[in-house]
Amino acid sequence: MKPKLVKQLRGQKGQLVGTLGAMASPNPELFDKVVNLCKRRSFVFPSAEIYGGFRSTYDYGPLGVLLLRNVKDAWWRSMVQMRTDVVGLDAAILSPPQVWEASGHLANFSDPLVDCTECKTRHREDQLDDPNICPSCGAVGKFTEARAFNLMFKTQAGPVEGAGADVYLRPETAQGMFINFKNVLETSRKKPPFGIAQVGKSFRNEITPGNFVFRTREFEQMELEFFVPPEEADDWYEYWMNERYQWYLDLGIPSDQLRMRPHEDDELSHYSSGTSDVEFMFPWGWGELEGVANRGDYDLRQHAEHSGQKLEYFDQGTGERYVPYCIEPAAGATRSMMAFLMAAYDEEEVNDDTRTVLRLHPRLAPYKVAVLPLSKKDTLLPKAEEVLALLQPHFMCDYDITQAIGKRYRRQDEIGTPYCVTIDFDSLEDDAVTVRERDSMEQDRIPVDGLVTYLEERLAL
Ligand code: GAP
Repeated sequence: MKPKLVKQLRGQKGQLVGTLGAMASPNPELFDKVVNLCKRRSFVFPSAEIYGGFRSTYDYGPLGVLLLRNVKDAWWRSMVQMRTDVVGLDAAILSPPQVWEASGHLANFSDPLVDCTECKTRHREDQLDDPNICPSCGAVGKFTEARAFNLMFKTQAGPVEGAGADVYLRPETAQGMFINFKNVLETSRKKPPFGIAQVGKSFRNEITPGNFVFRTREFEQMELEFFVPPEEADDWYEYWMNERYQWYLDLGIPSDQLRMRPHEDDELSHYSSGTSDVEFMFPWGWGELEGVANRGDYDLRQHAEHSGQKLEYFDQGTGERYVPYCIEPAAGATRSMMAFLMAAYDEEEVNDDTRTVLRLHPRLAPYKVAVLPLSKKDTLLPKAEEVLALLQPHFMCDYDITQAIGKRYRRQDEIGTPYCVTIDFDSLEDDAVTVRERDSMEQDRIPVDGLVTYLEERLAL
């Protein structure tokens, strides 16, 4: 690692790592407001709703799919596109038992499950306020002994039920990077320190899913496995803690709603010698957005042993051979999306009316620009369509011609669109449009031929 980098990290240490103060406070009302907005404005729908719903499973609607994609793109941009030491991967979701035997998930990836013999509900023992009292019926001392419940979904590959091979849906994307370490090392011309990044679905048979998309059985992760010479592991651990904390701040999470919390020893996963969580003040209290872990050489050694392959780095310059350590920033895409929505939600009084506005960072906003002809009159629509066609190659645009312009502004505010472009009757004469900014509601008159540049400069995507 370059000495300059280490110095920079040390300088930041006191400010970010271990910031534990309870700065913001829980806000249960906000939860209902955001969940309602998500349904009403097509961000997130309960899955299989026409069949009565499928518990804790969600579908991402027209706006949710844009927002979630923007969260993942922002992560990819910062973790892959803007770096020379990270490459991408998209590994299979289905994998054979050997992978999970080696990783330790078959033996260790479980939660302690207890059943209430009174009301027959199931609970995670480690999440109970009082391990003797059932939170559903209040019965005291009626729990069964705790059983280890493995969280992996198991299924069968092959057309004949019962005769196929067991396979698992991955519970984390990380193992895809470890089992491809050799492939990537040999083909990408990278050497430690370097990383492999992946975004994709993971599956866990959670005992207590809930809090909307915070904990679901099917969710998306954004993970980086960053392989380093063992003696640099501590510095890189610190480096990634700072980088990842800053990423959320840069995308608009206020600093009083974000903290970095180091794990206690008894919280550490089976592979980790040190983990710190980036936590967000959700409406019910602090909750994990991302874990940054020092996984040491655990995974590469395990897979080397189980597969019989050499998973190590040979430095031709020095003749040194070693198993790299791995620093892992592991984030949830769906969970982060929820945090960005919660942090962006705002209500303010404007002209005796309550304006709901999502103050999303422009990079995350589903639509960057809404094109709004002042009226539905035939005379305005061709000009509006011309402006829309000019903007669409550059920005994700909405086009709305229904209802009064004030109502349409409010609709765009509520879904976080940073700019509205209004085409009025003067536009037919002066070839200019009115641009309204979401947060300040200020308006500018801009010539159509300067519109793309004007928006590009302000959106700074
Ligand atoms: N490879 C390490 C790993 O998977 P993790 O802390 O279990 O670590 C990383 O998961 C992130 O994935 C979490 O911080 C969280 O944001 C997200 N995540 C984990 N389980 C989830 C669930 N059931 N629903 C939604 N997001 C989840």
